Amino acid sequence: MKILVIGKNGQLGRSIQKFISKFNHHEFTLTGREELDLSSSESISKYFNTNSNFDVIVNCAAFNGVDRAEEEADLADQVNHLAVKKLAEFANSQNAKLIHISTDYVFDGKNESPYLESDNPNPINVYGKTKLLGEKASLKIMSNNAIIMRTSWVFSEFGNNFLKTMMKLGSEKNDINVVSDQIGSPTYASDLAEAILHIISNNNFNKKSFPTEVFHFSNIGETSWSDFAKEIFKLANLNCKVTPISSDQYPTPAIRPKNSTLSKDKITNHFKLQVPSWQKSLKECLKGII
Ligand SMILES: NC(=O)c1ccc[n+]([C@@H]2O[C@H](COP(=O)([O-])OP(=O)(O)OC[C@H]3O[C@@H](n4cnc5c(N)ncnc54)[C@H](OP(=O)(O)O)[C@@H]3O)[C@@H](O)[C@H]2O)c1
Repeated sequence: MKILVIGKNGQLGRSIQKFISKFNHHEFTLTGREELDLSSSESISKYFNTNSNFDVIVNCAAFNGVDRAEEEADLADQVNHLAVKKLAEFANSQNAKLIHISTDYVFDGKNESPYLESDNPNPINVYGKTKLLGEKASLKIMSNNAIIMRTSWVFSEFGNNFLKTMMKLGSEKNDINVVSDQIGSPTYASDLAEAILHIISNNNFNKKSFPTEVFHFSNIGETSWSDFAKEIFKLANLNCKVTPISSDQYPTPAIRPKNSTLSKDKITNHFKLQVPSWQKSLKECLKGII
């Protein structure tokens, strides 16, 4: 299969590259902003006018600055919504399947239990709103042959993420304050990358046509940011005290959902996936950092 991976320099894009040698029966094309700039409709059209015949398009790129999106709403909308609409149109016209990555931040966080794919989204910040519009546009254009994978709290050896920030702060400071009233499901980008590659090889995905579906993917288990930080310091042997604080004590431009845990039952059953706990995957990821 000819597989296009968009967003090669991000956490997920780089994690997919760790595994593609195991899948060398497929032909991978990887693009970054230089080859395919999602902030420009012309760049997208130009790319697909000269590069076509993909069997699968995996979109890992996004305007991911949750706080920055409050100020740069138009750019966030272009990358997370309008560009995704265009990708879905090109996928449709080329008979390609689309795997698009979305977010737990499409939910308002008022649920008491992990969110199901059937729960109603109700984003409470600009980033979440633009990601939801991207989901809706691809669902409308592709009633078949698309998968929308919502993930959450992504960490990896690559780029900037909570784990890397904590490793830096934990080695510089003796104590830090971390928010304890937001609960979520951490996701090791390598586990998500493997899941995507596993799905591409799955019979359910390789049917000539399948109805478009939303799936949730994260590691197993849930935690707060402060407990996540404590686990990082424990596993990395960093002697830094974590003081739990409330979101009110750490105001940010964008409001975050209080509970954004995701249920993984649908994806694990549908694609026969085994998902490790976030603690196990954190240990694995730290081997590549320390
Ligand atoms: N990170 C999280 O905690 C989290 C949580 C929930 C959902 N997600 C979703 O998971 C997916 C993967 O996230 P990630 O953590 O791998 O993100 P990431 O590390 O921030 O990478 C995003 C990539 O998108 C690229 N990008 C941004 N604007 C672009 C543009 N205009 N044209 C082309 N590329 C552009 C960036 O390019 P540059 O490298 O050139 O900047 C970057 O490489 C995204 O859909 C994200 O919304 C992430």
